[in-house]
Amino acid sequence: MIFIFLSLLLLVALLFKFLTSDGDFTLLSKRHAKREEIEDKVVWITGASRGIGEVLAKQLASLGAKLILSSRNEAELERVKNQLSGKHAPGEVKIIPLDLASSEEFLKEAVEKAESFFSGAGVDYMIHNAAYERPKSTALDVNEESLKATFNINVLGPISLTRLLAPFMLSRGRGHFVVMSSVAGKTPTPGQAIYSASKCALNGYFHSLRSELCQKGIKVTVVCPGPIETSNGFGSTSSGNKFTSERRVSSERCAELTIIAATHGLKEVWISNQVCLIKVSESHSFKI
Ligand SMILES: NC(=O)c1ccc[n+]([C@@H]2O[C@H](COP(=O)([O-])OP(=O)(O)OC[C@H]3O[C@@H](n4cnc5c(N)ncnc54)[C@H](OP(=O)(O)O)[C@@H]3O)[C@@H](O)[C@H]2O)c1
Repeated sequence: MIFIFLSLLLLVALLFKFLTSDGDFTLLSKRHAKREEIEDKVVWITGASRGIGEVLAKQLASLGAKLILSSRNEAELERVKNQLSGKHAPGEVKIIPLDLASSEEFLKEAVEKAESFFSGAGVDYMIHNAAYERPKSTALDVNEESLKATFNINVLGPISLTRLLAPFMLSRGRGHFVVMSSVAGKTPTPGQAIYSASKCALNGYFHSLRSELCQKGIKVTVVCPGPIETSNGFGSTSSGNKFTSERRVSSERCAELTIIAATHGLKEVWISNQVCLIKVSESHSFKI
């Protein structure tokens, strides 16, 4: 009798833990970021002018990273830079304005610049965080302009930057790509087929890259957030439907978990309110 009672209690406790968690259990088991993996390391963040990228910059600065911030809007990057504080911030923070849809020639110049900063220390972490703000449309209604912009910014730009940067990392025998993907890259996402397709493509490329380069000191962490609360409200990304809109993970928590994942060298992590994930998968299974 006592055994059954204790088993039930354990089951209820596990269920409660599952329902109230905001990430996968491997990720949550790590608890804290390893500061020594970040301090004095060169970290290049794209999409650092707002949203999750801005919060990542703040948290990484406070952990002692040497930061390089990128996005198209230089004035916003300056604003973010001036708000940072840490061992190397804001004084030593570098800015490289860039459009991920630019030519490979332009991206090459950006990579060479990033490699030359901090007395040529080279980039330790490349955080591919920028993404195209896509208007919602059905899979068939998407227009060509939106289709191309989504793939140029979410897929081709990050892949080009990676192809250009990886040789430098390989020559040092170390480097880490952190990729902001999405739960949308894992599950069907009504109204966001093209965004979902772009994140699937990103997952495919970076998981393959890891399998090719993991023996040569290159790490890849793919981060799959569900709905995240950001200041500009872009958080409609992966699962923004009637089930999930009310329970988003904060961008601070998303950034914190991303840094924990990267510093523990995790390969893929999911960040989301678990109730959202259950409800999203329920809603998809009804629709399919
Ligand atoms: N928020 C969510 O609910 C959620 C959920 C799952 C996954 N994610 C992913 O998490 C990442 C960050 O999301 P977020 O909500 O923080 O995004 P956000 O607030 O819209 O910020 C997007 C960032 O990307 C930059 N960007 C846009 N187009 C660019 C271009 N052509 N070249 C270079 N930079 C460009 C923007 O800066 P400029 O305009 O200055 O260029 C901005 O800094 C994205 O990869 C997103 O897909 C977000």
